[in-house]
Amino acid sequence: MSPFRLTRTLPEDATGAALRADVREGLTGSPRTLPPKWFYDARGSELFEEITELPEYYPTRAEREILRARAGEIVEASGARTLVELGSGSSEKTRYLLDALSGLHTYVPVDVSESALTQAGQALAAERPGLEVHALIADFTARLTLPKTPGPRLVAFLGGTIGNLLPVERAAFLASVRALLAPGDALLLGTDLVKDERVLVRAYDDAAGVTAAFNKNVLHVINRELGADFDPDAFAHVALWDARREWIEMRLRSRTAQTVKIPALELAVDFAAGEDLRTEVSAKFRRQGVGRELSAAGLELARWWTDREERFALSLSVAR
Ligand code: SAH
Ligand code: TRP
Repeated sequence: MSPFRLTRTLPEDATGAALRADVREGLTGSPRTLPPKWFYDARGSELFEEITELPEYYPTRAEREILRARAGEIVEASGARTLVELGSGSSEKTRYLLDALSGLHTYVPVDVSESALTQAGQALAAERPGLEVHALIADFTARLTLPKTPGPRLVAFLGGTIGNLLPVERAAFLASVRALLAPGDALLLGTDLVKDERVLVRAYDDAAGVTAAFNKNVLHVINRELGADFDPDAFAHVALWDARREWIEMRLRSRTAQTVKIPALELAVDFAAGEDLRTEVSAKFRRQGVGRELSAAGLELARWWTDREERFALSLSVAR
């Protein structure tokens, strides 16, 4: 059993304050929105793991295929002694990298989901003697302070999670990642690719309704944390492809005219029948766009790999 450490970079109540601020801002604005990081309480993390096993949800399988085939090349190009993973979740696909990185000293999984971090981190530390696991409960969109660990560093951001940030947030995020990199460090980025609309929509609106339950979980989080009285059954799960912005938009559509009370904010929110609450975007990418966005952040795309069906891409980039 090797060392497992868990560091909380935010005081426990800072999360509560952030949730209150986000919910107030998102639900009083027009259109109504909520930021996606609040999906991931313990139940949300479990539901996401179920999504990754759905027949319709191809991104996890496609990215796993690339990691399995290319782990050796990735490791050769980086030679990292520290692997930092943002939004690590279950760290399941990461195992391909951990297996291939023979000189690895420390793994730093970073996530807002304490339950996912603890489960994955403890299991890895127990399985891999000699590997230090230093888990960080942190918001990767805020300024990150990483533990002092040996370089070079490889920062991995898998799962296409970068697509859940809006374009302006993405630019700020990539610039902040760039600031974490020293010469010789690299970023390994997973991006889902633009493809047939039907395939995309199905991946976010599965037949078994797991994605619908995941989407509605954010209402349960707000009910529990802020004493709100959202009735999740009074909302319908909607997944739409926005062809102009090339993103999937996840929404919760109010089935009736209703008023939701949020006591912790002393707020009442009116929904018209058919009114939408946008809970998440999942942007899809093309190689050129990824290169451009990396470049704007001071990163240079060095390698680009896709799965055989070219549904998903992994790219490796270095500081310019
Ligand atoms: N990397 C995993 C999980 C992807 S799901 C995979 O590829 O399967 C997205 C993960 O990012 C979740 O574990 C979620 O808890 C985490 N997450 C979402 N927003 C976050 C934020 N702002 N800061 C840190 N973690 C975040
Ligand atoms: N990063 C994942 C994605 O965009 C997150 C995700 C998958 C998701 N399915 C979802 C988020 C459904 C909200 C609802 O593919």
